Amino acid sequence: EVIDSIAAAVRELVENSLDAGATRIVVSVWPEQWRLQVADNGTGMDLENLQQAASPHSTSKITTEADLYKIATLGFRGEALHSLAQLGCLEVLSRPNDLGLGDFWENRESAPNPPSSSLLRGGAQNARSGWRVVYNNAGSAVEVETAAIAPGTVVTVDNLFGNWPVRRSFLSAAQQMRSIQSILQQIAICHPHVNWQLRQGNTPCFHVTPGSTAEHILPQFVRGVRASDLQYLKLDLPASPENQKAGNLLVETQLVGSTVKHNYQLPIASSQFQIPNSQFLELVVGLPDRCHRRRPDWVKVGVNRRVVRSPELEQTILSAFARTCPRDRYPVCFVHL
Ligand SMILES: Nc1ncnc2c1ncn2[C@@H]1O[C@H](COP(=O)(O)OP(=O)(O)O)[C@@H](O)[C@H]1O
Ligand SMILES: [Mg+2]
Repeated sequence: EVIDSIAAAVRELVENSLDAGATRIVVSVWPEQWRLQVADNGTGMDLENLQQAASPHSTSKITTEADLYKIATLGFRGEALHSLAQLGCLEVLSRPNDLGLGDFWENRESAPNPPSSSLLRGGAQNARSGWRVVYNNAGSAVEVETAAIAPGTVVTVDNLFGNWPVRRSFLSAAQQMRSIQSILQQIAICHPHVNWQLRQGNTPCFHVTPGSTAEHILPQFVRGVRASDLQYLKLDLPASPENQKAGNLLVETQLVGSTVKHNYQLPIASSQFQIPNSQFLELVVGLPDRCHRRRPDWVKVGVNRRVVRSPELEQTILSAFARTCPRDRYPVCFVHL
């Protein structure tokens, strides 16, 4: 995805936080300064990974070609941090959150400081402090120092698009904040277990408390909708040849969709895509006698934990509700495949 707005930068960073298993994500934005920060309590990075994180095509999410066909993370191309280093001033603070070897550092009061990166490899990661790395526009680490932070990662981008003025849109600060809020809402319904906060500077403007499904999340930001107006349904889809075919097509479309833009060649024929046998579909619907909207703005489709535009599916949902919703009113419906 091209990073062409603060909202797009926020989306990339937040997806990294989710890939790192974060359950608490705080997004702070200073639109006038073209500055943004995403802080999470995810796995963090050791010094070695941190120093490499913004170099071109650097990813920890795939190691072999075969991994391409069982991707379970939102990112895998290793482009976001590198692009952000090119587009602004990038600083990352990180402290590994691997609890396995907590005693390692506890018992080493006299640990060399900074420890050599080989000490931080493998599992020996629960460093007592984290690291702060500043990158240049080529994505190379140019400043490295220890930093006292909680386990997790804090990414800050300053002066975004400073050298790319055409990407500095003429949107007002309020419009930018709305677009960020809307992106976070779409991500939040696909990741209901996360505690989300959005701040403009230090002023809180949006907060989502976690729940077990999207049913608990939607009422927090769709005005006029209460949890009791919604129904949640989880359907297991049997592994029939049709489902397998449809699933293959979906995986293929996603992979091809994300690779075509970057001119990569897909090395394996589509017939080799394998999707797991157990598939399910989650559905959150507003009971049509209790909630309906003036616009179809909350008819959403999610695939593999990302909201996507799917005009066919959206149309199918709208047609299905055409008779039950009052005239010229639209349902609240989120389908997650
Ligand atoms: N918030 C984060 N927590 C832990 N690791 C991160 C975080 N953000 C980035 N990383 C590390 O930096 C690498 C590069 O990130 P990115 O450029 O977005 O590429 P990708 O997400 O495609 O791997 C990731 O593979 C991951 O190892
Ligand atoms: Mg990423």
